[in-house]
Amino acid sequence: MFGVRSSIIHSEHRTPRRRSDHIETPYYEIEGGKPLKGRVRISGAKNAATKEIVASLLTDEPVILHNVPHIGDIAVTLDVCTSVGLTYEWDSVAGNSLRLHTPTVETPEVPLGFSGLNRIPILLLGPLLHRYGKAIIPMLGGDDIGTRPVDFHVHALEQLGAQIVFQDGRYYAVADRLRGAVIELPYPSVGATENTLFAAVLAEGTTLIKNAAVEPEIMDQVMLLQKMGAIIFMDTDRTIVVEGVERLNGTEHTIINDRIEAASFAIAGIITGGDVLVEGAEQAHMLTFLNKLRQVGAGFEVKPGGIRFFYPDHPLKPIALETDVHPGFMTDWQQPFVMLMTQVDGLSVVHETVYEKRFGYTEELVRMGAEIQLFRQCLGEKRCRFRSRDHAHSCIIRGATPLRAADMTIPDLRAGFSYLIAAAVAEGTSRISGIRYVERGYANILRKFQELDANIQVCQ
Ligand code: EPU
Repeated sequence: MFGVRSSIIHSEHRTPRRRSDHIETPYYEIEGGKPLKGRVRISGAKNAATKEIVASLLTDEPVILHNVPHIGDIAVTLDVCTSVGLTYEWDSVAGNSLRLHTPTVETPEVPLGFSGLNRIPILLLGPLLHRYGKAIIPMLGGDDIGTRPVDFHVHALEQLGAQIVFQDGRYYAVADRLRGAVIELPYPSVGATENTLFAAVLAEGTTLIKNAAVEPEIMDQVMLLQKMGAIIFMDTDRTIVVEGVERLNGTEHTIINDRIEAASFAIAGIITGGDVLVEGAEQAHMLTFLNKLRQVGAGFEVKPGGIRFFYPDHPLKPIALETDVHPGFMTDWQQPFVMLMTQVDGLSVVHETVYEKRFGYTEELVRMGAEIQLFRQCLGEKRCRFRSRDHAHSCIIRGATPLRAADMTIPDLRAGFSYLIAAAVAEGTSRISGIRYVERGYANILRKFQELDANIQVCQ
């Protein structure tokens, strides 16, 4: 359809899947076709909160975090940290405040049972090495959106003086004392930057992290660490300079709001022809997203305390989009945006440059009637690591196509929200299983959709 036939991975010309009578419970049942309207308050950022719980292990004093989202990934992270000595308590009044305290690290070993659950255990390397001189970390998990190695993490920690071997599904690390070093990351990896930061703050001497990630969630961690007594300079050109200190203290910190959740509800409002005030959405953290919405022609209005998103009184326009590290267009905004483009007249092009396998979810959208083709080529201008590799990391979307309701199984967190949006747009009643994936990352998602007047319920 769009030329370059040799590279087409899947096309829109599929036999629509028959509805299955058996769908895994619990599942969401959504009747589509209703504009989402009203206000929704977004929660604290998953990708800051989970790391900040780990950061609390760097001190033997209490750390209090506010605006912690009640999501599956927080529960897993608390279990991971509890396994080495963390104690925690939710504030019964504030509800989303957590008191974290690790007076002593009792064991350097995160149990193998945590292998494959999320990306967090590897971040315990620095705290465990500082406080115990040793760390044993199981292999990581997380969504199946690419190979997701941790070679940058391991190499950075080795440069800081840790000795690390991988054996029988675990990383074994030892270090008498970590020492500052000049570390140049091959790519501005979020996780590797965080891991290096946690190791560098208590290392002896100065560490330079070059080519560091500078996402708002990382800046939030830098602010927490500074309150804990760390010395961290943000230099120009993606360089972070850390002057190691002897010890860190307890503190109190409010986590930034979740800009991925904000963008997801923004699209949900726009695509259903609705009008949603996303309370807590921060313009400063969403500049690129808002620019793209403006190019598409969607309506938004920055207000005190939030951003209102709405369908305008004119048709939307197709666009070309490339994901990138911050301040580029987030890879986690890609899925709802692709969803939006399925409902816009014309051809849109998306080039995913962060993860090589992040279009798996489009298959379900195609079954619902979307016209999306995947390509191995880089359909964009950015220099991309996947250029000469065999990954379907670009797509062309031809809109607008009506969507039919479907039974869907969520493959990963961000795909999950897109399916919810798709179901909210589609004609008929969709059933979505695998809801634990969305509940891993979105707090009170069912209630929030219901508050926006969506016809959604959970079936057990
Ligand atoms: N990479 C390597 N080697 C490494 C580390 C990363 O090759 O040692 C590659 C990855 O394979 C990937 C790229 O570098 O292709 C970027 O990975 P990064 O390390 O930046 O990602 P991450 O820390 O694993 C976090 C978020 C992701 C978010 C990305 C990019 C968490 C728990 N996860 O992942 O969020 O997409 O940064 O912003 O913070 C999500 O929330 O659904 C999610 C996937």
